[in-house]
Amino acid sequence: MAKAKPVKLGWSSEEVENITHALNDLLVNYSVHYQKLRNYHWNVKGSDFFDLHIEFEQQYKEAQDHIDDIAERIRVFSKTPVSTMGEYLEQSEIKETTSQLSSEIMVRELIADYTILLGYMFAVIEIASAQHDAGTEEMVKVFIHQIEKHHWMLSAFLAK
Ligand SMILES: [Fe+2]
Repeated sequence: MAKAKPVKLGWSSEEVENITHALNDLLVNYSVHYQKLRNYHWNVKGSDFFDLHIEFEQQYKEAQDHIDDIAERIRVFSKTPVSTMGEYLEQSEIKETTSQLSSEIMVRELIADYTILLGYMFAVIEIASAQHDAGTEEMVKVFIHQIEKHHWMLSAFLAK
C-alpha cells in the first residue's frame, strides 16, 4: 500500500515567512485597490454613472471581504498583517490616482489593478501549494475566480 501523505499540522518558520510575506504583498496591493474602488464609486461622472456607481460598490464590498480574509489568514500563522495606510501606500505596486478621471480611465485603471492582483494571487498559490498549505490555496483560488470575472466584465464594458 502506498504511504499516506503526511498530514500538515504545522509549518517551519521558513514556510511561515514565505507564505505570510506573499500574503502581505497581496494585502497591501488589495488595500490600495479597495480605496480606488471607493474613490471611483463616489466620483464617477457621466452617462455611465448609474452602472459604474453600483458596480464599483459591489466590487469594493467584495474586496473588503477578501482583504479581511487575507489579514486573518496571516494571523492564523501568528504573524502581523500590514495594517497602516502609510505602509500600504509605500509598499503597494498598485498606485492611487486622483478622483478627476473619465469613467473609461477609471475602468482601465481597475483592469490594470486586477492584472496586478492576479499576479500576487498566483504567487501565493505557488508557495501555498509547494508547502501543502491547502487552507491558503483554497482561500485564494476563490478570489482568483471572482477577480477574473471582474476583469472580463470591465474589459467587456470597454469593448466597442
Ligand atoms: Fe455609496
